[in-house]
Amino acid sequence: MSNKILDVQNLTAGYGKQAIIENINTNVSDQQIVVIVGPNGAGKSTLLKSVFGLNNRMDGDITFHGQSIFTAKTSELVPMGISAVPQSHNVFPTLTVEENLDVGTFAAPPQDKKATKSKILDLFPDLKDKLGQQAGELSGGQRQMVAVGRALMSEPKLILLDEPTAGLSPAYLEVIFDLLLQVRDSGVAILMVEQNAKQALRIADYAYVLVNGKNAYEGTGAKLLQDDEVRKSFLGGGAPQ
Ligand SMILES: Nc1ncnc2c1ncn2[C@@H]1O[C@H](COP(=O)(O)OP(=O)(O)O)[C@@H](O)[C@H]1O
Ligand SMILES: [Mg+2]
Repeated sequence: MSNKILDVQNLTAGYGKQAIIENINTNVSDQQIVVIVGPNGAGKSTLLKSVFGLNNRMDGDITFHGQSIFTAKTSELVPMGISAVPQSHNVFPTLTVEENLDVGTFAAPPQDKKATKSKILDLFPDLKDKLGQQAGELSGGQRQMVAVGRALMSEPKLILLDEPTAGLSPAYLEVIFDLLLQVRDSGVAILMVEQNAKQALRIADYAYVLVNGKNAYEGTGAKLLQDDEVRKSFLGGGAPQ
Protein backbone atom coordinates (compact mmCIF):
# COMPACT_ATOMS: atom_id res chain seq x y z
CA MET A 1 0.00 0.00 0.00
CA SER A 2 1.32 3.38 -0.88
CA ASN A 3 1.31 6.07 1.73
CA LYS A 4 -0.28 9.36 0.72
CA ILE A 5 1.93 12.28 1.72
CA LEU A 6 0.38 15.23 -0.13
CA ASP A 7 -3.37 15.53 -0.51
CA VAL A 8 -4.82 18.52 -2.32
CA GLN A 9 -8.58 18.45 -1.80
CA ASN A 10 -11.05 20.55 -3.79
CA LEU A 11 -8.55 23.39 -3.87
CA THR A 12 -9.52 26.77 -5.27
CA ALA A 13 -6.67 29.27 -5.43
CA GLY A 14 -5.37 32.23 -7.38
CA TYR A 15 -4.04 35.74 -7.14
CA GLY A 16 -5.72 38.50 -5.19
CA LYS A 17 -9.42 37.79 -5.51
CA GLN A 18 -9.17 36.01 -8.83
CA ALA A 19 -9.50 32.23 -8.70
CA ILE A 20 -7.29 30.54 -11.31
CA ILE A 21 -7.63 26.90 -10.29
CA GLU A 22 -10.94 25.52 -9.03
CA ASN A 23 -11.82 22.38 -7.12
CA ILE A 24 -8.49 20.76 -7.84
CA ASN A 25 -7.65 17.32 -6.42
CA THR A 26 -4.08 16.04 -6.51
CA ASN A 27 -2.35 13.32 -4.51
CA VAL A 28 1.26 12.32 -4.11
CA SER A 29 2.31 9.16 -2.29
CA ASP A 30 5.69 8.10 -0.95
CA GLN A 31 8.14 7.07 -3.66
CA GLN A 32 6.07 8.57 -6.46
CA ILE A 33 6.73 10.87 -9.35
CA VAL A 34 3.46 12.66 -10.04
CA VAL A 35 3.30 14.73 -13.22
CA ILE A 36 0.95 17.59 -14.09
CA VAL A 37 0.51 18.37 -17.77
CA GLY A 38 -1.87 20.61 -19.68
CA PRO A 39 -1.99 23.60 -22.03
CA ASN A 40 -0.21 26.89 -21.35
CA GLY A 41 -2.13 28.97 -18.87
CA ALA A 42 -4.04 25.97 -17.48
CA GLY A 43 -2.94 26.81 -13.93
CA LYS A 44 -0.18 24.22 -13.48
CA SER A 45 2.35 26.64 -11.96
CA THR A 46 -0.46 28.17 -9.91
CA LEU A 47 -1.17 24.75 -8.38
CA LEU A 48 2.48 24.26 -7.40
CA LYS A 49 2.62 27.79 -5.99
CA SER A 50 -0.50 27.11 -3.91
CA VAL A 51 1.07 24.02 -2.38
CA PHE A 52 4.20 26.05 -1.61
CA GLY A 53 2.32 28.98 -0.06
CA LEU A 54 3.13 31.49 -2.79
CA ASN A 55 -0.35 32.68 -3.71
CA ASN A 56 -3.84 32.97 -2.36
CA ARG A 57 -5.47 29.67 -1.32
CA MET A 58 -9.20 30.31 -1.21
CA ASP A 59 -11.13 27.11 -0.59
CA GLY A 60 -10.62 23.40 -0.03
CA ASP A 61 -7.67 21.93 1.85
CA ILE A 62 -4.09 20.79 1.42
CA THR A 63 -2.63 18.23 3.80
CA PHE A 64 0.96 17.03 4.12
CA HIS A 65 1.44 13.81 6.11
CA GLY A 66 -2.16 14.23 7.27
CA GLN A 67 -1.68 17.72 8.66
CA SER A 68 -3.38 20.71 7.03
CA ILE A 69 -0.94 23.15 5.43
CA PHE A 70 -3.73 25.24 3.89
CA THR A 71 -2.63 28.33 5.79
CA ALA A 72 1.08 27.47 6.12
CA LYS A 73 3.69 29.89 4.87
CA THR A 74 6.59 28.83 2.63
CA SER A 75 9.02 29.39 5.51
CA GLU A 76 7.05 26.86 7.57
CA LEU A 77 6.83 24.33 4.75
CA VAL A 78 10.57 23.94 4.18
CA PRO A 79 11.32 22.66 7.71
CA MET A 80 8.27 20.37 7.40
CA GLY A 81 9.89 18.69 4.39
CA ILE A 82 8.66 20.41 1.22
CA SER A 83 10.95 22.24 -1.14
CA ALA A 84 10.56 23.67 -4.62
CA VAL A 85 12.33 24.58 -7.84
CA PRO A 86 10.62 27.47 -9.67
CA GLN A 87 10.05 27.59 -13.43
CA SER A 88 12.81 30.10 -14.17
CA HIS A 89 15.63 32.01 -12.49
CA ASN A 90 16.18 29.01 -10.27
CA VAL A 91 19.93 29.38 -9.72
CA PHE A 92 22.00 32.35 -8.60
CA PRO A 93 24.18 32.82 -11.72
CA THR A 94 26.99 34.74 -10.03
CA LEU A 95 27.31 32.34 -7.11
CA THR A 96 29.37 29.18 -7.46
CA VAL A 97 27.75 25.76 -7.69
CA GLU A 98 28.73 25.08 -4.09
CA GLU A 99 27.36 28.41 -2.86
CA ASN A 100 24.11 27.68 -4.70
CA LEU A 101 23.82 24.37 -2.87
CA ASP A 102 24.62 25.99 0.46
CA VAL A 103 21.81 28.51 -0.05
CA GLY A 104 19.44 25.54 0.17
CA THR A 105 20.06 25.07 3.89
CA PHE A 106 19.25 27.74 6.39
CA ALA A 107 19.66 26.52 9.91
CA ALA A 108 21.27 23.10 9.41
CA PRO A 109 24.43 22.48 11.45
CA PRO A 110 27.61 22.56 9.27
CA GLN A 111 28.29 18.85 9.78
CA ASP A 112 24.85 17.84 8.49
CA LYS A 113 25.22 20.24 5.61
CA LYS A 114 28.43 18.52 4.54
CA ALA A 115 26.91 15.05 4.70
CA THR A 116 23.82 16.13 2.76
CA LYS A 117 25.94 17.85 0.13
CA SER A 118 28.06 14.78 -0.37
CA LYS A 119 24.91 12.63 -0.77
CA ILE A 120 23.56 15.06 -3.38
CA LEU A 121 26.85 15.13 -5.27
CA ASP A 122 26.72 11.34 -5.43
CA LEU A 123 23.37 11.72 -7.19
CA PHE A 124 24.73 14.44 -9.51
CA PRO A 125 28.37 13.44 -10.11
CA ASP A 126 28.63 15.92 -13.05
CA LEU A 127 28.62 18.73 -10.49
CA LYS A 128 31.51 17.38 -8.44
CA ASP A 129 34.27 19.00 -10.45
CA LYS A 130 32.26 22.19 -11.00
CA LEU A 131 31.76 23.20 -7.37
CA GLY A 132 33.90 26.33 -7.70
CA GLN A 133 32.44 27.42 -11.02
CA GLN A 134 29.79 30.15 -11.32
CA ALA A 135 26.36 28.60 -11.94
CA GLY A 136 25.73 31.07 -14.77
CA GLU A 137 28.58 29.50 -16.77
CA LEU A 138 27.04 26.02 -16.76
CA SER A 139 24.94 24.40 -19.48
CA GLY A 140 21.16 24.53 -19.08
CA GLY A 141 21.02 20.91 -17.97
CA GLN A 142 23.76 21.39 -15.39
CA ARG A 143 21.99 24.48 -14.06
CA GLN A 144 18.83 22.40 -13.58
CA MET A 145 20.90 19.86 -11.64
CA VAL A 146 22.13 22.67 -9.39
CA ALA A 147 18.55 23.89 -8.89
CA VAL A 148 17.29 20.42 -7.99
CA GLY A 149 20.38 19.81 -5.84
CA ARG A 150 19.72 23.01 -3.92
CA ALA A 151 16.10 21.95 -3.32
CA LEU A 152 17.39 18.65 -1.91
CA MET A 153 19.75 20.37 0.55
CA SER A 154 16.94 20.92 3.06
CA GLU A 155 16.38 17.13 3.06
CA PRO A 156 12.78 17.31 1.87
CA LYS A 157 10.29 14.45 1.64
CA LEU A 158 8.58 16.13 -1.33
CA ILE A 159 9.97 18.41 -4.02
CA LEU A 160 7.89 20.56 -6.35
CA LEU A 161 9.45 21.03 -9.79
CA ASP A 162 8.13 23.47 -12.37
CA GLU A 163 9.24 22.45 -15.86
CA PRO A 164 12.66 21.06 -14.98
CA THR A 165 13.44 20.29 -18.63
CA ALA A 166 12.37 23.62 -20.16
CA GLY A 167 14.81 24.63 -22.89
CA LEU A 168 16.88 21.45 -22.68
CA SER A 169 17.86 19.31 -25.66
CA PRO A 170 16.06 15.94 -25.97
CA ALA A 171 19.26 14.14 -24.92
CA TYR A 172 19.60 16.22 -21.78
CA LEU A 173 15.92 15.78 -21.02
CA GLU A 174 16.54 12.04 -20.71
CA VAL A 175 19.49 12.73 -18.39
CA ILE A 176 17.38 14.91 -16.10
CA PHE A 177 14.48 12.41 -16.06
CA ASP A 178 16.90 9.58 -15.20
CA LEU A 179 18.21 11.69 -12.33
CA LEU A 180 14.68 12.35 -11.10
CA LEU A 181 14.02 8.61 -11.03
CA GLN A 182 17.12 8.26 -8.84
CA VAL A 183 15.95 11.11 -6.60
CA ARG A 184 12.60 9.32 -6.22
CA ASP A 185 14.30 6.04 -5.46
CA SER A 186 16.41 7.78 -2.79
CA GLY A 187 13.13 8.42 -0.93
CA VAL A 188 11.99 11.84 -2.12
CA ALA A 189 8.56 12.15 -3.75
CA ILE A 190 8.23 14.51 -6.72
CA LEU A 191 5.32 16.64 -7.92
CA MET A 192 6.32 18.04 -11.27
CA VAL A 193 4.84 20.21 -14.01
CA GLU A 194 6.05 19.30 -17.50
CA GLN A 195 5.60 20.63 -21.05
CA ASN A 196 7.38 17.60 -22.49
CA ALA A 197 4.28 15.62 -21.72
CA LYS A 198 4.93 12.35 -23.57
CA GLN A 199 8.37 11.87 -22.07
CA ALA A 200 7.22 12.94 -18.61
CA LEU A 201 4.30 10.51 -18.64
CA ARG A 202 6.77 7.69 -19.28
CA ILE A 203 8.43 8.29 -15.90
CA ALA A 204 5.21 9.26 -14.08
CA ASP A 205 3.80 6.91 -11.48
CA TYR A 206 0.63 8.97 -11.67
CA ALA A 207 -0.40 12.02 -13.67
CA TYR A 208 -3.03 14.72 -13.94
CA VAL A 209 -4.12 16.74 -16.97
CA LEU A 210 -5.20 20.24 -16.01
CA VAL A 211 -7.35 22.31 -18.39
CA ASN A 212 -8.70 25.79 -17.66
CA GLY A 213 -7.89 25.50 -13.98
CA LYS A 214 -9.75 22.21 -13.55
CA ASN A 215 -8.88 18.51 -13.35
CA ALA A 216 -9.59 17.04 -16.80
CA TYR A 217 -7.98 13.58 -16.76
CA GLU A 218 -5.92 11.50 -14.36
CA GLY A 219 -4.36 8.07 -14.18
CA THR A 220 -1.07 6.27 -14.25
CA GLY A 221 1.42 7.66 -16.78
CA ALA A 222 1.00 4.48 -18.84
CA LYS A 223 -2.80 4.82 -18.85
CA LEU A 224 -2.76 8.44 -20.02
CA LEU A 225 -0.24 7.61 -22.75
CA GLN A 226 -2.73 5.05 -24.09
CA ASP A 227 -5.83 7.25 -23.75
CA ASP A 228 -7.18 8.32 -27.15
CA GLU A 229 -8.61 11.64 -25.94
CA VAL A 230 -5.49 12.60 -24.03
CA ARG A 231 -3.25 11.62 -26.95
CA LYS A 232 -5.29 13.58 -29.46
CA SER A 233 -5.71 16.72 -27.37
CA PHE A 234 -2.52 16.96 -25.35
CA LEU A 235 0.17 14.69 -26.75
CA GLY A 236 0.13 15.70 -30.42
CA GLY A 237 -1.84 12.64 -31.59
CA GLY A 238 -0.07 9.63 -33.12
CA ALA A 239 -0.12 5.99 -32.18
CA PRO A 240 0.46 4.91 -28.58
CA GLN A 241 4.06 3.96 -27.85
N1 LIG B 1 1.25 36.44 -10.35
C1 LIG B 1 0.10 36.37 -11.04
N2 LIG B 1 -0.87 37.31 -10.88
C2 LIG B 1 -2.05 37.23 -11.57
N3 LIG B 1 -2.33 36.26 -12.46
C3 LIG B 1 -1.40 35.31 -12.67
C4 LIG B 1 -0.14 35.31 -11.97
N4 LIG B 1 0.57 34.23 -12.37
C5 LIG B 1 -0.20 33.60 -13.28
N5 LIG B 1 -1.38 34.23 -13.45
C6 LIG B 1 -2.47 33.83 -14.35
O1 LIG B 1 -2.89 32.51 -14.00
C7 LIG B 1 -3.23 31.77 -15.16
C8 LIG B 1 -2.53 30.42 -15.09
O2 LIG B 1 -1.12 30.63 -15.13
P1 LIG B 1 -0.09 29.50 -14.76
O3 LIG B 1 -0.48 28.84 -13.51
O4 LIG B 1 1.26 30.13 -14.83
O5 LIG B 1 -0.30 28.48 -15.99
P2 LIG B 1 0.60 27.29 -16.53
O6 LIG B 1 1.72 27.09 -15.57
O7 LIG B 1 -0.33 26.12 -16.65
O8 LIG B 1 1.07 27.72 -17.89
C9 LIG B 1 -2.83 32.61 -16.36
O9 LIG B 1 -4.01 33.16 -16.90
C10 LIG B 1 -1.95 33.68 -15.77
O10 LIG B 1 -2.11 34.89 -16.47
MG1 LIG C 1 3.79 27.27 -15.74
